[in-house]
Amino acid sequence: MIQWSSKSLNSTEQNIIGSNCLNTVNSISSNQALGLQNLEGYSLGLSKEDLLLEQKQVEPSWIKPDTGSGYDSLISGTPQGKGSQVNGFDSGLPKVLVVDDHTASRMTAVALLSMEGYEVIEADCGSKAVELVTQKQPDLILLDVMMPGMDGFEVCQLLKQEEHTRLIPVIFITALNDRRSRIRGIEVGADDFLTKPFDRVELAARVKSLVRQKCLNEDLDHTEKVLFSVARAIESRDPNTGDHCERLVKLGQAFGEYLNLSRHQIRDLMWGGYLHDIGKVGIPDAVLLKHGKLTPEDWEIMKQHVVIGEKICQPLRSMRGVVPIIRHHHERWDGSGYPDGLKGDDIPYLAQVFQIIDIYDALTSERPYKRALTFEEALQIMLEETLLGWRNPKLMQQFAEFIGFYQEKE
Ligand SMILES: [Fe+2]
Repeated sequence: MIQWSSKSLNSTEQNIIGSNCLNTVNSISSNQALGLQNLEGYSLGLSKEDLLLEQKQVEPSWIKPDTGSGYDSLISGTPQGKGSQVNGFDSGLPKVLVVDDHTASRMTAVALLSMEGYEVIEADCGSKAVELVTQKQPDLILLDVMMPGMDGFEVCQLLKQEEHTRLIPVIFITALNDRRSRIRGIEVGADDFLTKPFDRVELAARVKSLVRQKCLNEDLDHTEKVLFSVARAIESRDPNTGDHCERLVKLGQAFGEYLNLSRHQIRDLMWGGYLHDIGKVGIPDAVLLKHGKLTPEDWEIMKQHVVIGEKICQPLRSMRGVVPIIRHHHERWDGSGYPDGLKGDDIPYLAQVFQIIDIYDALTSERPYKRALTFEEALQIMLEETLLGWRNPKLMQQFAEFIGFYQEKE
């Protein structure tokens, strides 16, 4: 058994190390969970400024109100100089959507925000608000809770689920001491709360702060997209691995849910599916795309992909949970892996989880140099490697239980 397993050492290692998963990032644009709809058309040569400019071009300009919307009568002009510096924003006026079915209350908010120099859009019900958000892409929404038809909670929940509106801050307008509404508001993703009657200074401060936060979040969002674009560029270098990444994302989500991982952990696993081998960008073609066996020297170069990947993603706070997956997905339970030779639970848990799905997918996929193994054959190899000490036995057992259900469902 040991001799057979040691054959599988090469097989598994080559399957994994050679699995340039980035092949599948082409389909990243369809992945709602990762927020990548706008990747199509971005190229590696785009700077962050280019990306911001590109986004601005698709946003409607406040100078040219949409004449066909049917809601133009609800678009309020601002009394201050258009295009001048307002609330610290050098270009364009931050746009606020006020949603309230009570005209007097809505007009008060509009007046206060206009005095602060914002462009203000109004809606008197939830469905109009949703339509206006799509048309006008506001920078912030001031949202009443109780409205006929679609209430504020439904509007907020809907917008926070949609990729292109999830970053728009929502402030709920609630009655003083309306604890239930505040709790429900938090549940549906509200960013802040204000009570009526409005305090002008408080309103201005909260709106300004959240609009600024939105700008920062958008910058971060764009940076992440650039990273995924890099990943997509790398995958195009290796045509061997099919839709490995896409399957890893799906498998990571399903196994993460089976293990009762948190929402953030599952997201990290899914992002790991796309980004774990991003460090291959630094591996020379002569090694990465080499036909035939790698020499020991080639392997030493190839192993660097985990360290390079870590350096690429480490500066981003949003990648904090993904970086351990990137660095440690080739460690082994008995300490014989790389880059740090970590043993047992010193290996970050998500890296252990990810390694299992990465290996499983590589074994069950067809490659130019091998057929796809059945799930029973793959599982057999992985269990034998676990007996050799390479993987967490408890986690491997959980995976064996999980994958039976998963294959049945698939
Ligand atoms: Fe790798």
